[in-house]
Formats: sequence, structure tokens, C-alpha cells
Amino acid sequence: MERERFPVPGPRHRLAPSILSADFARLGEEVERVVDAGCDLVHVDVMDNHYVPNLTIGPMVCEAIRPRAAVPIDVHLMVKPVDALVPLFAKAGADLISFHPEASDHVDRTLSLIREHGCRAGLALNPATPLHHLDHVMDRLDLILVMSVNPGFGGQSFIPAALDKIAAIRRRIDHHAEVTGRTIWLEVDGGIKPNNIRAVADAGADTFVAGSAIFGAADTDGGYRGVVSRMRAALANAGLAGRAA
Ligand code: DX5
Ligand code: ZN
Repeated sequence: MERERFPVPGPRHRLAPSILSADFARLGEEVERVVDAGCDLVHVDVMDNHYVPNLTIGPMVCEAIRPRAAVPIDVHLMVKPVDALVPLFAKAGADLISFHPEASDHVDRTLSLIREHGCRAGLALNPATPLHHLDHVMDRLDLILVMSVNPGFGGQSFIPAALDKIAAIRRRIDHHAEVTGRTIWLEVDGGIKPNNIRAVADAGADTFVAGSAIFGAADTDGGYRGVVSRMRAALANAGLAGRAA
């Protein structure tokens, strides 16, 4: 029986806390707390110590947090090869699955595989990955994940050069929407903080991954609610004009 999928959040700016920076000894509670604090997605960073120099979690953890996450689960596959893990994460409760084009021998086939398993499909572009990877797959994409750090770890600093890349991708997404009526999310991942999120939104992002900024705020003023409201305040009236959901 097809699993009920969470409706993806609408055209406002979306916050996606990365559980890589969560307290794994209390992961279920952590997920509930960030959703309760007003986050729109849960970002799950999957690393295989092959495509990136770190090892994190598999489908079992996604399955474990599924009942605790009353929002879509946004799985970021930093693995090579990719395809065998797609059905496992789809079955474990993923709503969106992104992967790196360098990690798949057949990008179009992997994107179709993700959609065939009922998930929204995304390509994750590293800081040095050129935009030509988008040239022939825009109609297959629901999401473009722009890495503003090199993948593998939380807590890194935002790479400012990502802003120009975000603006260039925003132009491509808006042109695609004009021609096809299809909306593609522009998600930015790495080093996002309350003091830079507005610049990232102004460059053209609509969805923001934040791991250490959110989970690192557990014991600061206002906790998760505090940092989420600081991010929302920074995003208030930032450009979303004319963008659909
Ligand atoms: C890095 C991951 C990011 C990271 C974000 O490879 O893809 O999602 O966890 O963590 P922060 O927000 O701390 O940079
Ligand atoms: Zn990520």
C-alpha cells in the first residue's frame, strides 16, 4: 500500500535542519523539537565514507525517525554508487532524495528511479561542480541542492562564491518555470546561519539546510524556537515574489 506522503510546504522560505548535528542519543525527540520549533523539512545526510570522507546513517535511521517527523524527510545521498539506496530510502520514508551527479553513471536514470519510487528528485551540486550537469535534466528535477560547503561534515563555513552560483541557478529555474510552469526548489546546504541566511535568500534560494546553526542552539536563548525565529526574522520580506510553491 502506497505510504501517505507529507504535502510539501508551500511557497514560503523553507527551513531544513540537518540531523547530522543533532544529539543522536535522543534523535527522535530532536526531530520532534525542531519540527515543533517551526521547521519545514528534516534533512538527512547520508555519507558512505567512499564518496565523502565520513560515515553516517542508513535507511534504518530514516525509518526510525519517520513516525516522529510530521514534515517531509529530505534525504541527501553523499554516496557512490547511488541507485541501490534509492528504493531503500523511499521505503524507509523519504519524501525527497537528492544525489551528486558525479556519483551516478546515469544521472537521468537515477532521477527517474527516485520518482518511480514516489519521491521528489534532486541533484546536489558541490562548490566546484559546474552547472552544465543541469543542462538536460531540468524536466526531471524537483529540487536543486547547492552545496555552500564541500560535503562530508557539519559546522563548516559558508563559501561566499556560492552566492553567484545560486543567482545563476535561480535564473535557470525561473526561466524553466516561465517555459514549463514547473517549479523547482533551490535548496542551499552548508554554513547557513541567522547572519547570512538573508544574503542566501536574496541570491535566490528558497530552501535552507542548517545543521549546526539549529541543533547547536539547543542551550542558547530560546533554544530551537529562538534560532528558527531569528532565521525567519532575517528572511522576512526577502525575495520570493513571483515564485510558485
Ligand atoms: C554536509 C551536509 C550538510 C551539513 C550542514 O556534507 O550535506 O547538510 O550537515 O551542516 P551545517 O549547517 O552545520 O553546515
Ligand atoms: Zn546535506
